Amino acid sequence: MLEPGAYTMIDRFVDAVSEEPENDEVEVSLRPKDFASYIGQDRLKANLQLAIAAAKKREEPLDHILLYGPPGLGKTTMANVIANEMSAQIRITSGPAVERPGDLASLLTNLSDHDILFIDEIHRLHRTVEEVLYTAMEDFKLDIMLGKGPSARSLRLDLPHFTIIGATTRTGAIAAPLRDRFGMVHRLDFYTPQQIESIITRAAKILGVKIDKQAAVTVAARSRLTPRIANRLLKRVRDYADINGDGFIDDNVAHQALEMMDIDELGLDPADRLLLSAIIDNYRGGPVGVETLAAITAEERSTIEDMIEPYLLQIGLLERTPRGRKVTPKTYSHLGKNRAQPTDNQPRLI
Ligand SMILES: Nc1ncnc2c1ncn2[C@@H]1O[C@H](COP(=O)(O)OP(=O)(O)O)[C@@H](O)[C@H]1O
Ligand SMILES: [Mg+2]
Repeated sequence: MLEPGAYTMIDRFVDAVSEEPENDEVEVSLRPKDFASYIGQDRLKANLQLAIAAAKKREEPLDHILLYGPPGLGKTTMANVIANEMSAQIRITSGPAVERPGDLASLLTNLSDHDILFIDEIHRLHRTVEEVLYTAMEDFKLDIMLGKGPSARSLRLDLPHFTIIGATTRTGAIAAPLRDRFGMVHRLDFYTPQQIESIITRAAKILGVKIDKQAAVTVAARSRLTPRIANRLLKRVRDYADINGDGFIDDNVAHQALEMMDIDELGLDPADRLLLSAIIDNYRGGPVGVETLAAITAEERSTIEDMIEPYLLQIGLLERTPRGRKVTPKTYSHLGKNRAQPTDNQPRLI
């Protein structure tokens, strides 16, 4: 058996967290620029298209928008698409990068009317910054303190009418007062295998990679219903095809490349299988608390909850119960394990 924590998120091909280099030319070219090339998330797109059309008609800025969902599903991409469709300028920052209220003040005062400020990982904003953001979002005013001690006085500045787009992997971590200031709050869903296949086919065209239909289906099935992983696997399979063949990706080549990466037909890698096997072998299938899972995998609890677990829940290999996480019959059959029958002298979990 693998040592707990033997695989960290850093080694994982199927980790959706680590972003590809932002200004990498390839990355930029793969990123859809408008609604037409943004595949899937149809309900979200329909809602946004309506909001954008209405805002344009009234010549108003767009309402503040909060996008949430697991990493790699297209939040940053959507923020850029929105800006593009609004013909608005977008400034990009992230929660941890805005350290002091003064940093936020300088970001906001440098915006123009209708500009978009994208705040990634908005759940990680400092509390003091968050409080300044409340009034800014609601009244387009900024209260700043000048000086210290008895001579301190506060100054109220008018701000341009901007739009905040916030992105987060966890809405639970967002304080209610902040959440309430977003006119639209949308969750991004996992994609269907067919949508992922279209994303792969589109990316292959942009990258000039030749891949046949069956190979695209094979790679799609292992992409954890996540565009970022689909694009990454396509690039690794392309490397394999370039080195071990003539660059053409057929199903055979795709299978060989994926096997080399140790990714199984549901897109699980050794770290996922370790986690699921541990629940079966050490905890008789669960339920087991998330803290225990964190200890088994040597990951942070939040990493388990936000990054690893959502996909396993989505495909029914894991279940959430009030007493913890449980595997399912599908988990046993996927891992080729027998279900232990409880005997009379063993405590039975009801
Ligand atoms: N709907 C989509 N259609 C096509 N490609 C997508 C889509 N959503 C995301 N991608 C691709 O996946 C990559 C990761 O998306 P990103 O927006 O960075 O995810 P997030 O911000 O949610 O972590 C993007 O660079 C883009 O190439
Ligand atoms: Mg992002």
